[in-house]
Amino acid sequence: MTKTPAIGKPISRLEGALKVTGQAKYAGEYQAPDLLYGYVVNSTITKGKIAVIDTADAKKMAGVVEIFTHENRPSTAWFDIQYADMDAPPGTVFKPLKDNEIKYNGQPIALVVAETFEMARYAAMKIKLAYKEEQFETDLESNLDKERDPKKGIASMLKPPPPKPKGDFEQAYRNSYVQSSGEFKHGTEHHNPMEMFASTVIYEGKNKLKIYDKTQGTINSQFYVANVFGLKMKNVQVISPFVGGAFGSGLRPQYQLFMAVMASLALKRNVRVTLDRAQMFTFGHRPPTIQYTKFGADETGKVNAIYHKASAETSQFEDYVEMVVNWSNMLYPAENTLLESKLVPLDVYSPLDMRAPGGSTGIHAIEVTMDELACKLNIDPLEFRLINYSDIDKSSDKEFSSKELKECYRQGAEKFGWSNRNPQPRTMKRGNKLVGYGMATGIWDANRLLARVEAKVTIDGRVELKSAVTDIGTGTLTVMSQIAADELGMDLDNIIFSYADSSMPFAPIQGGSFTTATVGAAVKTACRALNKKIFKKAAALKDSFVSKAAFEDIIFSNGFLFLKGSPDNRISIIEILEKSSIKELKTTNMAMPNPLTDGKKTKAVHSAVFVEVEVDEELGIIEVTRAVTSVAAGKIINPKTAESQILGGMIWGISKALHEETITDHRFGKYMNPNLAEYHIPVHADIHDLNVIFVDEKDKMVNDLGIKGVGEIGIVGMPPAITNAVYNATGKRINELPIHFDRLL
Ligand code: MOS
Repeated sequence: MTKTPAIGKPISRLEGALKVTGQAKYAGEYQAPDLLYGYVVNSTITKGKIAVIDTADAKKMAGVVEIFTHENRPSTAWFDIQYADMDAPPGTVFKPLKDNEIKYNGQPIALVVAETFEMARYAAMKIKLAYKEEQFETDLESNLDKERDPKKGIASMLKPPPPKPKGDFEQAYRNSYVQSSGEFKHGTEHHNPMEMFASTVIYEGKNKLKIYDKTQGTINSQFYVANVFGLKMKNVQVISPFVGGAFGSGLRPQYQLFMAVMASLALKRNVRVTLDRAQMFTFGHRPPTIQYTKFGADETGKVNAIYHKASAETSQFEDYVEMVVNWSNMLYPAENTLLESKLVPLDVYSPLDMRAPGGSTGIHAIEVTMDELACKLNIDPLEFRLINYSDIDKSSDKEFSSKELKECYRQGAEKFGWSNRNPQPRTMKRGNKLVGYGMATGIWDANRLLARVEAKVTIDGRVELKSAVTDIGTGTLTVMSQIAADELGMDLDNIIFSYADSSMPFAPIQGGSFTTATVGAAVKTACRALNKKIFKKAAALKDSFVSKAAFEDIIFSNGFLFLKGSPDNRISIIEILEKSSIKELKTTNMAMPNPLTDGKKTKAVHSAVFVEVEVDEELGIIEVTRAVTSVAAGKIINPKTAESQILGGMIWGISKALHEETITDHRFGKYMNPNLAEYHIPVHADIHDLNVIFVDEKDKMVNDLGIKGVGEIGIVGMPPAITNAVYNATGKRINELPIHFDRLL
């Protein structure tokens, strides 16, 4: 009689068929009558002024409607106000076409609008440009003397600065039985989701717009457009039903949205602006970062001194900051710590959150330094982690709300066969390949924000839920439907989850691994409130058994209300609505962290990562032949979509460790490989045996559902585990990512 639970089932994503059959429409695919196409022109210098921008010839070309530059751009509200966006770091937001000043290479400087995309692109080549170039600096390493503390801003809520120094690091380090120090260099990376950025703006008359935008936050884009262009909030609707990957690149509205809206309002026409692959390298990236560590441990292996410093790139106009160095003392309970985070402003665009921003950078340095300490102490690296295990987050002296990391270590090690490892480098061999085993710990925040959800039951007995949240490919539609199904006691078929529309109830930008916890809690709250409304209507009916019952005595199952312990007493939701002469019942509810308990404990997800590599001694080629990631992330709503998240993170971890890097030619201040031929990412042949384990973890504090989130934890432990495995195979510690194979020769 009671419905089987949907939560915990490995359900395939509900929109999967639409995606693989090409029926899913993305932002750049929406058609509109007399649609105009915009093509963006980007600066080819890094710093200076535009001396001449001559569009006369280009403008005369057939099919060209208008060319916008800083000289003729409409004077929108944008240029007078300081509105940025919900993910803006402290500083002054970049304003396309504001004036003739060039702040970075690739900066958008003009928009050609034409009747076809090809015409717009062709005409863009005919624009004549002359620049007055100025001196610039784009190299982090040669500008470390300019490093300074980051400015604080709203963003520091989710990315707090490092905790204050504790104890006496210098003395504790000096007195340590063993010491390990390292310098770690990470290159620039660009997000490169499959779908490129696009906005299709439908001009609906008198300053009213409907916008199909590639974004991780429909309401973020709506606020941005309304504020920047001085439009009424209700006159700006942003929709993004499908997003072909984003990984952080869609957390901020990108310049194609500004350009498309500007042109649409000026021309009173429907306009689409799509970026091409090279332009995907012109609006944000994972910043290059240099880190230094010094860890000291006593004879028993206890780490008691931790120093970790990160110096990262930012732009000249915003202080983009990541949480790089805070993790070590959250993982290991040292009493003497010194953690520092610095920024070096350079003539580049502001960096931008990319999957596990800060975590995938900092944890590499921490976990490689830990590995080296273990080697020096002659203690197995896994045993070493257990010696330094803590249920207290020593960076804040708070307990973890839950932490099944020991179980991650145990199950992961067993599945991987960690006990077969030979600690002596260069001892395990397979043919002409050296084999190495490496492991690492992972940690990431289990954050939660505020969201609202509408739930409505209609006369056909179906329930529709509404949230402005996007689904960037993570399975949000599916898991929200599962949560609703269980709370309502209904099958998935009877639930419609409508989403990715800014006119729907508020959801924050989708990111930080907080979406399922944030919106899922609101779905649960709204569904429970809807059940209560249905209950009240039933109780008000004449001769209803419900009227004598309390809400808690009623079971909602398969569209019926039952009296607990008395299955014959039942009434259908359809009958309740009919007898009450109403067509629907509706409720909108909010869910947010409990201000009384939130912050009393540290909420985090953990992972243990085990990796096997093979290194070809003659060619230096490294292959990750096997990897196991075990994750403790609270309740897993859908093991299939959750596993996909972890697998994606693991593959990105392989990419970060071995392949991925944007190369800058500092003589020109320009990225030299803005294409997928030269920006290396793993292909199928690079990916072998990957395994994911979710360990059981119960946590009633994070939210009613015990959800912690699984977006970013998949990547953080992979780069250090691979680096440590390469050491075990070759005896060489390469602390620069990606590990270029020539370093092994
Ligand atoms: Mo994620 S980098 O918060 O999209």
